[in-house]
Amino acid sequence: MKKSEKEIAEEVATLSHELRSPLTSIAGFVDGILDGTIPEKDYMHYLRIVSAEVKRLTEITSKMLDNSKIELLDAPVSVQKFPLNESVIRIFCTFEKIIEGKNITVEGLSGDNPVTVTGDLGLITQALYNLIENAVKYTNVNGCISVSFSSENGFSVFSIRNTGAGISDDEKEKIFSKFYRSESAKKNQPDGTGLGLSITKAVVNLHNGTIYADGIPDGFAEFTVRLPS
Ligand SMILES: Nc1ncnc2c1ncn2[C@@H]1O[C@H](COP(=O)(O)OP(=O)(O)O)[C@@H](O)[C@H]1O
Ligand SMILES: [Mg+2]
Repeated sequence: MKKSEKEIAEEVATLSHELRSPLTSIAGFVDGILDGTIPEKDYMHYLRIVSAEVKRLTEITSKMLDNSKIELLDAPVSVQKFPLNESVIRIFCTFEKIIEGKNITVEGLSGDNPVTVTGDLGLITQALYNLIENAVKYTNVNGCISVSFSSENGFSVFSIRNTGAGISDDEKEKIFSKFYRSESAKKNQPDGTGLGLSITKAVVNLHNGTIYADGIPDGFAEFTVRLPS
């Protein structure tokens, strides 16, 4: 079946978003080393993150090639069981510099209450990445991000809450639509595609999980994800 121009444009936008997130952190850390903002004693730490992100880029691009249709979310799910807390901690590490720069406090990252997820590691990493990227991006300076992990009835529950502009009642569903961005997001964070949450939701649905948003305007935003343990 031939795709419409609109479908193709949407796929290209989705893919650019996928590729841009690892590229942004690689560029940031490499530039930090070259321009001296990262001290020599920290080189190894950041090079390890760069290496992990390059690996992720490779996985994304090989998935694209495998799938000549270029439809990420039609990709067959290669299922494995992995520790969720560790994945979340690893993703937070890629945002370390921005978190420090905005003086954000992060709570709940300790390894207490470890939970597992059974699913496609690459896709779930992308889904979590989009949520954590948003939390870091939309938290106010001197604000706070809290995460928590729990399990219930064969599902692992991850929730992530951040202070800042928050989310209003009428936006709690809309934000999951492709290309939707709130007025305050467009004004204060002009670089964004409105695709991250739609990708996250599609990945969660593909795993028969659930995701919902909660929040209060000028208060907080909170996302709760349930995925099979
Ligand atoms: N943590 C958050 N705090 C406040 N608003 C958020 C948060 N995460 C998402 N949003 C809102 O949902 C919209 C859609 O998010 P997303 O799909 O990731 O796209 P983008 O981040 O590119 O705008 C954002 O533009 C913003 O209005
Ligand atoms: Mg986003």
